[in-house]
Amino acid sequence: MSAHVVARLDDLARGSAKRFEIDGRSIAVIRIDDQVYAIGDTCSHADVSLSEGEVICDSKEIECWKHGSAFSIETGEPISLPATRPVPVYGASVVDGNIVIDTAAATDRAGATAKGTS
Ligand code: FES
Repeated sequence: MSAHVVARLDDLARGSAKRFEIDGRSIAVIRIDDQVYAIGDTCSHADVSLSEGEVICDSKEIECWKHGSAFSIETGEPISLPATRPVPVYGASVVDGNIVIDTAAATDRAGATAKGTS
């Protein structure tokens, strides 16, 4: 099964991110207004949790707290250095007030990360 209810939408404040362990993957779930997004939680530059970084709502980015790379939460692409590789993107939706993450809807331009082998 690839779709997982991880939390109630109300449990995640607007403009915040939280890490969940789903199917053996660390996934950052990000809320902007009433939309949710899901990307790989591990920065592609080093082993750092992106969900501990700052969510930039206007540009739909999250900034790694360690060295400052920003990642698009829609595409997983790094916007700024030092990271140069994208993080995976997962399906995310709100169903009946629940946040649903679909790991089968993942894109993985970073390589094996989304398969849980990194
Ligand atoms: S660890 Fe994220 S930018 Fe360096």
